[in-house]
Amino acid sequence: MAHGFVTMNLLLCMAAFWHMSIATNNCHIDDATRVDCYYTIICEQYAGSAPNPSCSHDPYVTFIIKNSNLEYLTAGFFGATNFDSRVRKIQAEDSTWAQIEESSIRYFTKTEVVDFSNNRIQHVKNYAFKNLLSLKNLNLSRNYIETLPSASLMAAENRISSLKVVDLSYNRITTITTNAFKYLSNLIELYLNYNNIIYIEDNDFGSLNSLAHSKI
Ligand SMILES: *[C@@H]1O[C@H](CO)[C@@H](O)[C@H](O)[C@H]1NC(C)=O
Repeated sequence: MAHGFVTMNLLLCMAAFWHMSIATNNCHIDDATRVDCYYTIICEQYAGSAPNPSCSHDPYVTFIIKNSNLEYLTAGFFGATNFDSRVRKIQAEDSTWAQIEESSIRYFTKTEVVDFSNNRIQHVKNYAFKNLLSLKNLNLSRNYIETLPSASLMAAENRISSLKVVDLSYNRITTITTNAFKYLSNLIELYLNYNNIIYIEDNDFGSLNSLAHSKI
């Protein structure tokens, strides 16, 4: 009996230590794929700082956040870190985020690609991607998105969007009445296939002058 108790205590201690070590050292560089300053940073569960190798030329960091188990991705989740300005691509894997709130990834100002496909996102709030003034490729495919508020894909107020490719395929969008695409004047590809779209308001695609490919 006493022995069992001690073992139990030891296990709890080990569990607490394990948890601590995850919380403080949860980001690493994937050395297997690193070529000079073209590399991938992987953070498990929480965001944090990572090793920052010196670079002789413009870095291209792919930042992967794995297993984030929050329901709401808020502006507080990704704080400022030592590698923000190196990130060109952000990818979320196996997150439980149901909602992406305003300015959620605001520090990664040079990001060109956001891949949040294959998660469980239901709501993308206005200015969710605020400050990402170089964002060209946004992939929200294979989520549970039902509606898109009119400024949900905008990176800034009163500024022409830099988005060229938006993938919203395999979601649950039923109506498009919100002008969400109206101001994406640089958009070239738009994927809306595999939704349940039953209504599209006339003026919604009003200024998509560049659109070359769309799948609806
Ligand atoms: C979006 O991501 C899915 C994988 O989750 C991929 O199959 C698809 O090609 C991507 N879309 C674009 C436009 O790159």
